[in-house]
Amino acid sequence: MASISLLFLFISFQLLFAISQAIVPASDTFTYVNEGDFGDYIVEYDANYRALPPFNNPFQLCFYNTTPNQFTLALRMGTVRSESLMRWVWEANRGKPVRENATLTFSTDGNLVLADADGRIAWQTNTAGKGVVGFQVLPNGNMVLHDGKGNFVWQSFDSPTDTLLVGGHLRAGGPSRLVSRSSESSNVDGAYSLVMEPKGLALYYKSPHSVRPMLYWTSTEWFTIDKGSLTNLTLTSEAETDEGFLYYLTFQYFMTNPSSNSNRNMAYSRYNNTLSYLRLGIDGNLRFLTYNPNVQGVSWEVIYTFFDRRSMEGECQLPERCGKFGLCENSQCVACPTPNGLNGWSQDCESKKVTSCKSGEFGYYKLDGVDHFMIKYTRGDGPTKQGDCEAKCSKDCKCMGYFYHTDRSRCWIAYDLKTLTRVGNSTNLAFIKTPKKKGYFFWQSFNSPDYTLSVGQYLRVESPSRTMGQSRSSEFGDKQRAWTM
Ligand SMILES: *[C@@H]1O[C@H](CO)[C@@H](O)[C@H](O)[C@H]1NC(C)=O
Ligand SMILES: *[C@@H]1O[C@H](CO)[C@@H](O)[C@H](O)[C@H]1NC(C)=O
Ligand SMILES: *[C@@H]1O[C@H](CO)[C@@H](O)[C@H](O)[C@H]1NC(C)=O
Ligand SMILES: *[C@@H]1O[C@H](CO)[C@@H](O)[C@H](O)[C@H]1NC(C)=O
Repeated sequence: MASISLLFLFISFQLLFAISQAIVPASDTFTYVNEGDFGDYIVEYDANYRALPPFNNPFQLCFYNTTPNQFTLALRMGTVRSESLMRWVWEANRGKPVRENATLTFSTDGNLVLADADGRIAWQTNTAGKGVVGFQVLPNGNMVLHDGKGNFVWQSFDSPTDTLLVGGHLRAGGPSRLVSRSSESSNVDGAYSLVMEPKGLALYYKSPHSVRPMLYWTSTEWFTIDKGSLTNLTLTSEAETDEGFLYYLTFQYFMTNPSSNSNRNMAYSRYNNTLSYLRLGIDGNLRFLTYNPNVQGVSWEVIYTFFDRRSMEGECQLPERCGKFGLCENSQCVACPTPNGLNGWSQDCESKKVTSCKSGEFGYYKLDGVDHFMIKYTRGDGPTKQGDCEAKCSKDCKCMGYFYHTDRSRCWIAYDLKTLTRVGNSTNLAFIKTPKKKGYFFWQSFNSPDYTLSVGQYLRVESPSRTMGQSRSSEFGDKQRAWTM
């Protein structure tokens, strides 16, 4: 027993010694300073950039910025020769920008450090003393720190931002998600995330209003996982030469309990699509893009868009398809619901802000045949009475409205309205919170058919800005309105 633990101690010591001995040859260390002229070519987000020496066709390490003096260290995909837009496929320091004169240093201890001009560390690989002997950008866009045996001590594929390159992976232990970018100009985490969960992938929307992320899609049919749970998933490119040269972009996934693995083809092209990625866009959509360097000027092709007017999901399922508020049908924004009726939709469409949540200072207006984007993939609360659903929303100052299905007595509280979808099903009701103006006569009607904004009715009316509700309110002045209390 004693000799075994002694042996173990000896081996551990040897191992420790070997690791601490491994250092990066001085000739392979570097310090790059974020300074000098910007590059000349057009890159994604209309950014300014400075290219750094690490390069492996078509990937290049760069500093870029979309706001003055706020730089991101990122990997760019695309070459000057292709004369096409170059895109950002991995980022070190989203949300923690560095300034002019920031440095990227790879030192003999094996740590890769991004430090701001004042020395503050913005990002690092935390690999000092872990046996790293070299740094490389691989041909698939994976940036790695490897040990003497070629094992990856650190790899950029373990920290994707919004992009999964072919060869990249999600894992149950992390990285398990992609997070969208906030906007073209602002490089901070956006509202959307794609999450690998035990039974598949899920898309969430989280705005400042929402209490918790809202599910707007889940991959119920993509994977066959009966008993176990997903452990990891890798995006691969598979050539299918017997079908007249089709190249599939495929999810290879592994499960435990029992352990098995399987594939799911996601998209295809008729040319080699090894240089592709999956991106969770600023708009919350999922797209597969392929880069074909042999086609000059138009090297990029979107080979699959998940929420698309031609696909099963359609665009109405995208939370912000119709901006802050709007009614969506067949992937189009068709109306702006107001207490007075349905108006034509525009970017300005917004529900009236309810500033007071004292009872008596707000009410609800009703929409027939309408669903919220969170309804399709969540069960809602219930069975519950509609009155209880409403009471829950009324008590909650942050609630902007509620959705109720009369057939199954299910209730959804909405902290964000955004895009509502016309479903042509009179059992699906929406009640939008709106402020009451003082001094008005309120006609309290719960289900008055005259004042219910029926979407079905609306669609039979020729002019989108003239609806029953509207013509009524102009007939009687602005005094009588439809309220549900
Ligand atoms: C960056 O450093 C150089 C050299 O120290 C200095 O001349 C320059 O002013 C610095 N740039 C900024 C924007 O601070
Ligand atoms: C996924 O899990 C399998 C089985 O445990 C493993 O062999 C494989 O290396 C894993 N792949 C990734 C990318 O983690
Ligand atoms: C596809 O292109 C990659 C390099 O971009 C290459 O390594 C691979 O062999 C090609 N695959 C086929 C089937 O030609
Ligand atoms: C309305 O919804 C119910 C339950 O979800 C469903 O059974 C019915 O077919 C729907 N009707 C229409 C017209 O879609």
